Formats: sequence, C-alpha cells, structure tokens
Amino acid sequence: MLKKIGVIGGGYIGGVLAQEIAQRRLAREIGLSDPAPVPNPSDPEDRQAVVKKQSVSIGKSLDIAEGLPVVSRDTKVVGSKDYSALAGAEMVINTAGVPRKARPDGTFPSREELLATNLKVTLDVAKGIKQHCPDAMIISIANPLDAIVFTLDKRLAPPKNRLMGMAGVLDSARYRYFVAEAASVSVENVNAIVLGGHGDDMVPVRSSCLIAGIPVAKFLDADTLKKIEERTRKAGGEVVGLLGFGSAFVSPAWAALEMAEAIIFDKRKILPVCAKLDGEYGVKGLFVGVPCILGKNGIEKVIELDLTDEEKAAFAKSTAGVRKTCEEAEGMLKTL
Ligand code: APR
Repeated sequence: MLKKIGVIGGGYIGGVLAQEIAQRRLAREIGLSDPAPVPNPSDPEDRQAVVKKQSVSIGKSLDIAEGLPVVSRDTKVVGSKDYSALAGAEMVINTAGVPRKARPDGTFPSREELLATNLKVTLDVAKGIKQHCPDAMIISIANPLDAIVFTLDKRLAPPKNRLMGMAGVLDSARYRYFVAEAASVSVENVNAIVLGGHGDDMVPVRSSCLIAGIPVAKFLDADTLKKIEERTRKAGGEVVGLLGFGSAFVSPAWAALEMAEAIIFDKRKILPVCAKLDGEYGVKGLFVGVPCILGKNGIEKVIELDLTDEEKAAFAKSTAGVRKTCEEAEGMLKTL
C-alpha cells in the first residue's frame, strides 16, 4: 500500500480510478485534482460566483469518502480545484484532458486531433506535478497518449523508469476479449500483446497470441484473426461511437490499475507499456508501446520480442506515426 496516489482529472476515468484505489486498498490517501467547472467570464458575476464554489473533484471525493464506511475502508480522499491535492503523492495517474466525443453526425476526432487542446492541459499538469509531487511515479492515460507522455518527459525529465503511458494493457485486453469471445474460451486463457503507438496503426502481435499456451492459430482461422486485429485497432472508436458522450472509461482505468498494482506490489509483471526507448527496437528517445517488466522501480526492463517481418514492418509504421505526432507536439510546445 502506498501513502498516497494522486489522480489528475476527476472526470469519467478519474472517478473510476479513485473508487477502485479505495476499494483495492492501494493507498492510504487519494488526492483528486480537477479545475472543473471553470467559470465562464462572459456569464453574469453571480453565475460565475456559483460556479467558482462548485468542484467536480471535491464533490467526487466527498461522495466516495461518504461511502467508505459501507465498504469498510479507511482511505482519506481529498479533492482540489488546483493541484494541491497531489501534495506528497508517491504515484500519480494522469487523466487530464478532453476525451474523444462523437460529433452530431456520428463521426469523431482521432486521438491526434485532441493534441492542441490536451497539450495545453499537459503543461499545467506538468507544473502541478513539479510543484507538489516531483518524485512521483507517473502513469499517464490522457490522449493522444504517446505525445502527452513525450510532453511530460520534455517538461519534467524524470528518470525513464518513472514515467510511462497506459495504452498497451487496454489494447491487449481488447484483443484478448475478442479472441476469447471468438474461440469461446475464458478470457483468462488468452495471452496477447499489442505494441506500438496508441493509434489506428497499433500492432496486435499474432505470433505472441496464445490460448492456454497454445498458438491462437490452432483455434481461429487467419481471416477471423485479421478481423479481430482490425477491430482491436479501432476498438476505442467503436466505444466512442456507441457512447456518444465521450470515450471508454472503465476499461482504461482498470488497465492503468493493473500497471499501478504491478508497481505497488513489486510484482515484476510483464505488461505492454508506453515506455521511453533508448535503442530498443531500433528506436531512440520516443515513447512507444513495448513489453516491460513492471516492479517497485517502475519500468525495470524493456523486453525485445522476436517479431516476424510483417510485425516488424507494422511496428515501424506505427512508430513513424508516433514520431510524427511528437514532432507536431514539439512544434506546438514552442508556441505555447
Ligand atoms: N488539470 C486537471 N484536470 C483537467 C485539466 C487540467 N489542466 N483540464 C481538464 N481537466 C479535467 C476535466 O475537467 C475533466 O474532468 O480532465 C477531466 C477529463 O475527464 P473526462 O472529460 O471525463 O474524460 P475521461 O473520459 O476521463 O478521459 C480522460 O483519458 O482516455 C483518455 O482520451 C481520454 O484524454 C482523455 C483522458
């Protein structure tokens, strides 16, 4: 159990995280930071005064705290409209930013289209972490995932084991779920990994997909697997299109908590993590999804897989996409 976990952004994902951290007894204290709702300067002053007193994070914290006697937990839950609730956190999970949302015509922005808005938010988040918990382990969820983690790295420059993004655990869970459903077996039997960026070019690695240790091809034909891999790449968008109000929030929170638990309990668990590469997979200085051992020091080791030629080419394409978004982010950061 940690002394304190900070959750940045108290929206849909942040709310699930705070509840689960308490339920799973991961920390004695939870700090939830979110500026919402922010008063609109063009509203009448009395309306602005009302909004100033409202707070998503303080309200959610109180709601969770008042339920704790029912679930027999003694967790302290604090919220703030600034970043002060993060003070002293040993780990922070960042969800701050705007999610993808379906437009009235049913289409929705790509994760990359969120870049400009979420970069500005990320600069504030970096300042908040620097001021209140500079040594915290950071797990970031906000999109576009790879570019937001890259930006946090540029602003905070923590040791590379202490900053990581959550995408691969979720993408792999989606892949595993679809495979389990198609093969009509328990999700617990399916072991699979998705590498690369958290975009439509992500790489579900068929050669590493096993059902109870047996290659997946023994259970599903190539055509079915191709369709599953395609659905996995677009799975985030499928949920956005169905929900209408935002993006997936339960599965991303659970996925980030699998990473948090691996670190908190020093499990040395191998999970796909968006990690800073230093020559592994032929990539340097970029955050890309790769299998890592997660333990008490965060990223203990990056594991290099023997990919097939086709998987290598798909990984290179996905990494090129990540590089492009990060270059765009770097350009925008100069103007912010
Ligand atoms: N600092 C902290 N929180 C912020 C900031 C900021 N500077 N700016 C915005 N937020 C808050 C919003 O007020 C909102 O409550 O971040 C929260 C985001 O919550 P939601 O809009 O409910 O979005 P959610 O579904 O939780 O997704 C969060 O994770 O998966 C990604 O694409 C998703 O980038 C999005 C993020």
